[in-house]
Amino acid sequence: MRIDLLAGASYNPAVMPSPVPTILVFDSGLGGLTVFSEVLKARPDARFVYAGDDAGFPYGRLSQEALTARVLAVMERLIGLYDPQLVVIACNTASTAVLPPLRERFSVPFVGTVPAIKPAALATKTGYVTVLATPGTVARDYTRDLIDTYAGGCRVNLVGSRRLAGFAEAELAGNPVSDAELLDELLPCFVEGEGGRTDVVALSCTHYPLLLPRFQKLAPWPVTWIDPAPAIARRVTQLIGPPVPGHEADENEAIAVFTSGAGITSAFREALTAKGLPAVLIEDMPLLQG
Ligand code: DGL
Repeated sequence: MRIDLLAGASYNPAVMPSPVPTILVFDSGLGGLTVFSEVLKARPDARFVYAGDDAGFPYGRLSQEALTARVLAVMERLIGLYDPQLVVIACNTASTAVLPPLRERFSVPFVGTVPAIKPAALATKTGYVTVLATPGTVARDYTRDLIDTYAGGCRVNLVGSRRLAGFAEAELAGNPVSDAELLDELLPCFVEGEGGRTDVVALSCTHYPLLLPRFQKLAPWPVTWIDPAPAIARRVTQLIGPPVPGHEADENEAIAVFTSGAGITSAFREALTAKGLPAVLIEDMPLLQG
């Protein structure tokens, strides 16, 4: 079932041909907004569909099999509806599990978001690097392979937080959690050893940069925080090119789509509008778990 929360929010690409691409940015919830903002800066002329599978949130708790089935099903629906020229999987938890099956199933190009382990290994001076992600992402072979390939000389501290993605959603919805709760999740990132202490934290869940100002305030010592969003935006323009001259950004051409919409409050709507997504639709797709 499809429900328009804002009149005129949908469009049909079949009757609105345009030289500018439609870019679908996908996450389990609001975390992908951190990537969306950067991609929007790189291609302000493009049509954007921001899709949050809030019915499936949080992805970090799903098994690889359940997550793969879920993302394929949601993507089938979204690609059928919006016919994008490019899909950005703005979710580490999904990208580290589902990119190969997505590429096998659909012909549209996918840009994934995976833990920024190579940049972290290049940035560290002490060799103590933390990868802060979801429990799903830290458990993936994909993540272990990135560490083996790019961070062999580093002491990599993998931290899989069960609660931070939800805290980021709450922050954006106007219900921030306390400093004490946030610090409980953050402190495992900070390690001190004989040779030094953590100096780089790779934010490996797209929700976490939403909490960055609070992380910076609460951190027991200063570190370099790596947010992969600018690199994702560069990859998008590599694949589909720079903005088309003469095509101005049009906020009516950016829409947000959610698979449940259950948590959409007025603060949430305001946050979306502030991010350039005033139009919201619901594609009702309950998560059926066996
Ligand atoms: N934003 C997602 C990521 O980058 C995960 C949040 C979730 O657990 O759903 O990993």
